[in-house]
Amino acid sequence: MRVVVIGTGHVGLVTCGTLAALGHEVVGTDADQEKISRLQSGILPFHEPDLDALVEEQAKDGRLGFTDDASEAIPNADVVFICVSTPPRSTGEANLVAVEQAVRLVGHQASGRTVVVEKSTVPAGTAQRIRHVLLQEGNGVRKELEVVSNPEFLREGSAVRDSLEPDRILVGAERDWAFGVMRELYAPLIANGARLIETDINTAELAKHASNAFLALKISYANALARICERAEADVVAVAEVMGADPRIGPDFLRAGLGYGGSCFPKDLQAFQHLAASLHYDFPLLREIGRINDEAIEATLEKVRAGLWNLEHKRVVLLGLAFKPGTDDVRFSPPLALAARLLDGGATVVGHDPQAMANAKEECPGLLASTDPYEAAEGAHCLVVCTEWPEFRSLDLRRLRDVMAQPFIVDARNLFEPEEILAAGFSYQPTGRPGSP
Ligand code: UDX
Repeated sequence: MRVVVIGTGHVGLVTCGTLAALGHEVVGTDADQEKISRLQSGILPFHEPDLDALVEEQAKDGRLGFTDDASEAIPNADVVFICVSTPPRSTGEANLVAVEQAVRLVGHQASGRTVVVEKSTVPAGTAQRIRHVLLQEGNGVRKELEVVSNPEFLREGSAVRDSLEPDRILVGAERDWAFGVMRELYAPLIANGARLIETDINTAELAKHASNAFLALKISYANALARICERAEADVVAVAEVMGADPRIGPDFLRAGLGYGGSCFPKDLQAFQHLAASLHYDFPLLREIGRINDEAIEATLEKVRAGLWNLEHKRVVLLGLAFKPGTDDVRFSPPLALAARLLDGGATVVGHDPQAMANAKEECPGLLASTDPYEAAEGAHCLVVCTEWPEFRSLDLRRLRDVMAQPFIVDARNLFEPEEILAAGFSYQPTGRPGSP
């Protein structure tokens, strides 16, 4: 099938590579001409494991191309994916300006029967808006443009795998022929065992927000447990293990730490709260998820203060700046929120991250950065583990201790085991677990 993907960000570019790998003819387009010209030269705008190889292979095989002029590709498309960003407004409501611009382009340019797919996370009820705009832009010409919701469930750092081996494919539509097009589009994945769930559009749009909010709830529940464990001298990692052994709970997303970040959970929670309010349903639980997440950063800051007394004239190293391992993405990144709090307190803050340093320095100008963790730790009074990059586990602890002014580690992601850190001669404060007295 002929597919156009509007928006070549984390979701759009993975969608381009995946659909081309399924055998479709895919054209990716974006309003950012610089991004498109770099993609045409095989340069991706962000780090995502396996994505550059996937895009390169599909482009080489002639199934994937990029253009900054969507009017070339949309008229012949069978399916057009809307993969533009939907960032939160100051009110928390999802900003759908880019969605409207993309939809107007499709309404104007599409010729024959075309499925218009909402891939970006949008609040329930957006499809009605899209339908209306498609009709407006159709200039009165009767076009068969059918809106479908097909939310993404990609995790950064494993997006290619999540896309090629999805837990489920969710399709919300109103007409049989649109369901038929989507079944044909994803036929290889369905034949490979992927579960296809078909619903009406509102249900599919809402299920995405509901899923992300629940995942964030699990994380905040674990972080609230960490606060209680710190007071009860219990071990939140062990508590989570006990809970996760119950198949009704499951072990995933119960890791207490510095809290969730990224381009999805924070904005989707705000958008879901706004949607609930717009439907006149008060949903205080969603506010609590965000409050507990913010609290996790304050709790870590307090651990640093308790060990340093004053922050002025102190050097603090942040190991990890990305919102999670496996990505260079620092959007809503908890490590940068902590950096800002430490800088406000008068500390000198040095960050080290395998992938995210350039993005982090752009986002947090006061942050120093070092490509070498031992250089970053020189003369440091505290080292905070902020992102659980696996390579940090093999750091030479004794070398770290020798270069630091004060051998003090706050492990905001429980990356290490207390015994090994204490044995290496550090004062150690983990998260939700007993540390140094
Ligand atoms: C998430 C959802 O998982 C995905 O389904 C959706 O499509 C997009 O949003 P992503 O934000 O890329 O994916 O990463 P994820 O692995 O979900 O982690 C989100 C945040 O939660 C990260 O900051 C991570 O560090 C944090 N997290 C995750 C925890 O703090 N504890 C956990 O147990 C799991």
